[in-house]
Amino acid sequence: MTISLSTESLVSINVDLLAVGVSGKNWLKDPTLLRLDRACDGALLKSIKQEEWKAKVGDTFRLSGRGRLKAKRLLLVGMGDAELTPNAQRLLAVKAVRELIAKGSTLALLAPHTDDAALSALADGITTGAYRFARYLTGDRKPKHALKRAVILLDQKAKPSAEARAAIAAGEAIGESVNLARDLVNIPANDLTATGLANVAAHESKRFGVTCKVFDKKGIEKLGMPLLLAVNRGSTEEPRFFHMTYKPGLAKCPKVVFVGKGLTFDSGGLCLKTADGMMDMKMDMAGAATTIAIVLAAARLQLPVEVHGVVASTDNMTGGNAYRPGDVYPSLDGKTVEIINTDAEGRLVLADALAYARALDPDYMLDHATLTGACMVALGSFRAGLFSNDDGLRQAYEAAAKQSGEKFWPMPLDDDMRDQLKSGIADLKHTGSRNGGAITAALFLREFVGKAKWAHLDIAGPGMGSEARGIHPKGGTGFGVLTALEFLKALPN
Ligand code: BES
Ligand code: MN
Ligand code: ZN
Repeated sequence: MTISLSTESLVSINVDLLAVGVSGKNWLKDPTLLRLDRACDGALLKSIKQEEWKAKVGDTFRLSGRGRLKAKRLLLVGMGDAELTPNAQRLLAVKAVRELIAKGSTLALLAPHTDDAALSALADGITTGAYRFARYLTGDRKPKHALKRAVILLDQKAKPSAEARAAIAAGEAIGESVNLARDLVNIPANDLTATGLANVAAHESKRFGVTCKVFDKKGIEKLGMPLLLAVNRGSTEEPRFFHMTYKPGLAKCPKVVFVGKGLTFDSGGLCLKTADGMMDMKMDMAGAATTIAIVLAAARLQLPVEVHGVVASTDNMTGGNAYRPGDVYPSLDGKTVEIINTDAEGRLVLADALAYARALDPDYMLDHATLTGACMVALGSFRAGLFSNDDGLRQAYEAAAKQSGEKFWPMPLDDDMRDQLKSGIADLKHTGSRNGGAITAALFLREFVGKAKWAHLDIAGPGMGSEARGIHPKGGTGFGVLTALEFLKALPN
């Protein structure tokens, strides 16, 4: 697939689909729309009025090519009349590509803005809009069309600059990273084990100049991660722990460590989930997928920040050697933990991973994890919980989310709920009561971060979708990558 810039006229460009973003209060009088209408001999406005189309955000309007219009089909995408963010441009691109690949392979796109930030968002939208998870489809079920060529139309007076082309390349790199995260979430547990996940991370790292240290079971024993090993006990698959590093050859720059929960499948362990509750649990490594994608994208964008990705991966199974409620294990940090519910496995593998990450002495440390159903009860399926022990970090993350369009919501770390984690026989109990379950999970993690400035992002809801929604397809979403990149870009050097 290639994305290019062109100053060709929207009337004469020869593509399967011409997509035009429509915005502003006076969109019906927009000169571009009027030009298109003239090229279609008046058929466009007539049919818009007939259909009472209102150009609401994300709404689309289709017309087969008419009159002098060379494009086979025309698609208008409503963008509303609020100020246009990069995210609105991204949604335009996603809608356009999805419409295209149902029937064709070449696209021309006319967007309201073509500054560099807008171009980058258009390019990542084109790239992620073309995403389909077709790995297991055969014969007739294979997709018939793929995006081959996407042209972003520029003002006929404009000249495509080197900066503009760089913005498009950056958007493509971001989009490909998000698509990788989606693939990893969508691949089922029989095809993606902890070993497989580490192999993908190592392979992709090599492509983009990232170092990746992988620890197998023996290596994890040497590192001393008893909680990761405890969760792994019920499995016939080995666990993996891996550490990706991107260093931009600078004398001085901020250091950020991302940590990911990499449960390739969560059966609940001996505290077994119900059949329904288990159905989507191949997605329990979405935090790991996001973490991998962030480091790869940071490297490809050559951001002036040292970025680490740390992932603890295993599945949570019920084999004869499985860990049990009532068991007590030490941790990398030294604190001992009494196991209460074996289905609260995520916080255990993260505890060891956070203790490892803290030792890297980062300026900031952030974990992504599909950690609790309780966070979905609190915030719904489309918003992630944002917990932090540092007000500045929380504010910076909220600002980044405003840029990316991904939805987070600040959640409390209530000290008075810490009592729930007191154990009679160990330093900590690992779960509290049902009420406020997302908060006690975060409080448990906080025990392992020491003095580091840390944020915990509970992505149990938005990590995967049961339907396509906005820029997200059905299935793995790659949620969190865009916000993390905005956060990294905004860091002061
Ligand atoms: N992976 C689940 C959380 C989850 C649930 C993610 C639904 C996505 C969708 C996690 O390991 C889990 O099972 N958490 C338990 C914790 C409880 C036992 C304290 C939960 O949320 O029920
Ligand atoms: Mn669980
Ligand atoms: Zn889990």
